[in-house]
Amino acid sequence: MAGVVDQIKDRVDIVDLISGYLKLNKSGVNYKARCPFHNEKSASFFVSPERQIWHCFGCSAGGDVFGFVKQIEGIEFADALRILAGRAGIELHRQSPEYQQYQTAKTKLYEICGLATRFFEKQLRESNAGRKALAYLHDRGLADESIKNFRLGYAPDSWNALGDFLERNYESKDIFDAGLVVKKDGGGHYDRFRSRIMFPIFDLNGQVVGFAGRVFGDLAKDAEAAKYVNTPQTAIYDKSRVLYGLDKAKLAVRRKNKCLVVEGNMDVIMSHQAGATNVVASSGTALTDGHLKIIKRYTDNLDLCFDADNAGTLATERGVDLALARGFNVGIVAIDEPELKDPADYVKKYGSKWSEYSQSSRPFLEFYFETAKKTLDVTTALGKKLLAQKILPFLASMVNKVEQAHWVSEIALALKLKDDILFQEIAAAKPKGLEIQDEEPNQVEPPKENFDVLEEGLLALLMKKPDLVLDIQPEDKEFLSGRMAVLVKDIGLSLNETREDSKKMMAQLTSAAGPESAMNLEFIYLKSQELWKDIEDDELAGEFKKILGQMKRRKILAQLEGLEFDIKTAEKNREKEKLVTLTVEFSKISKQLL
Ligand code: CTP
Ligand code: MN
Repeated sequence: MAGVVDQIKDRVDIVDLISGYLKLNKSGVNYKARCPFHNEKSASFFVSPERQIWHCFGCSAGGDVFGFVKQIEGIEFADALRILAGRAGIELHRQSPEYQQYQTAKTKLYEICGLATRFFEKQLRESNAGRKALAYLHDRGLADESIKNFRLGYAPDSWNALGDFLERNYESKDIFDAGLVVKKDGGGHYDRFRSRIMFPIFDLNGQVVGFAGRVFGDLAKDAEAAKYVNTPQTAIYDKSRVLYGLDKAKLAVRRKNKCLVVEGNMDVIMSHQAGATNVVASSGTALTDGHLKIIKRYTDNLDLCFDADNAGTLATERGVDLALARGFNVGIVAIDEPELKDPADYVKKYGSKWSEYSQSSRPFLEFYFETAKKTLDVTTALGKKLLAQKILPFLASMVNKVEQAHWVSEIALALKLKDDILFQEIAAAKPKGLEIQDEEPNQVEPPKENFDVLEEGLLALLMKKPDLVLDIQPEDKEFLSGRMAVLVKDIGLSLNETREDSKKMMAQLTSAAGPESAMNLEFIYLKSQELWKDIEDDELAGEFKKILGQMKRRKILAQLEGLEFDIKTAEKNREKEKLVTLTVEFSKISKQLL
């Protein structure tokens, strides 16, 4: 097993891996980001390319590539292994001991969804009905390349075609758990997706986790048939967290530092086809805070482009509120031609012009204001009231007073009112769009072997400048904990060989330690690099001395406290002789404090 794990570690670079999930910025020899595992405004999440580890100083989470994938995806080691093996180009054969040993309940579900995707793809090309569906997709303006890239398919008009196909290799229970079949009342199963165009839904690693099936053919004429049938919640598909297209959009979202959320699957595919690659959609559900949290890892700028109908307007307003609460800068992309209802229509008509147009968002408030002016009669009292009700709550939460004043004068002008009245209304309004701060319980376990603050500081300095170890006098050793004393000794011994090279010393220390304490040392090393980044050598020496002094003082104070207790006990028991010795000792030790 160690074989595969080590091979993966050799081949997957941690900076590459993590930058697929987060916006990393260079920080000296390391990279930093806002931690995805707890809520924070400033970056305390660090990645070390040198040591191939990550660590958050804020919440203490940390580890290697496996630990990162496990935590960010919320999966077990075995599933992280499979994802990383895929990334490293290492095939885990079904017969291999690794595969057998590390199967989980989810493994089969991923496989089944992958197999179903291939089945639907084949049906789209090779069945008669499928070819009609393919023609429909082409007619909608989809290029063959997009159809392949998004792996669109066709579910045949049959009650058991997929189920029978999958049952050749998998048990019906697993097929059911993947959400692909529905239980019959009298026992048995039937296919959930029948006579539908199939959109596989991918997780961030491009694995299929579920499907959306759009009506097609005769079924579309049936008014009873739902336009979309979606995979229900399964162990691998959580629709309030999966964003359609994000696996393909994530790099563009980071590069453009902006994400555009659209309403439908077709809108996503057509956008990507037109070159607007930072586009995603929620699938089978309205946008949720869970979706926004994931987008927030990549960017602070969120645009929305929903249909201009009533449902779309409501969805937009809900999306704006949620996004503001998550701290996004929110913009709206509006398609102004009435006959074009969504991005898919726009792309069908204008093609790659969408890639430019889709980036031309306006701040949501500007959009609200313009729309309100167009749709309300602001010469009437009611029109004025409604416009004020719509806009002012957002002004009430505005921190920047200049921006607020700007809006007040714009609105005052439009409504032909005095600024003062609006300011009064703002003061009375219930602020809207304030950022919520949810303190999520952190499931991260801090490392078991913890050094206290002083020891950690001392160790960090030794890692930065190993020859400081020579400043520790033999009599200082009694101030160190057992574990620290061993480390100090190791650092001293390795000094000759490592020639004061931090990197070599770290390699030695970590290989001598068990896995858990090795990781703890990695965290301290990372901290030492960040903490003492721009500090000169003599300052380091000064700091080292100071910490050593504090440790000494702490030890003495603890000794004195113990003596004080003994003295009190001796007094109570009237042990005169003992009292004298204790008092002498007390004053001798307290002199060391001076
Ligand atoms: N949706 C759904 N169930 C429905 C209708 C819609 O889950 N009965 C979801 C789907 O995720 C869909 C999105 O809402 O992609 C937007 O709906 P709509 O605009 O009606 O569908 P499009 O995907 O745009 O489909 P098309 O353009 O092909 O009509
Ligand atoms: Mn549409």
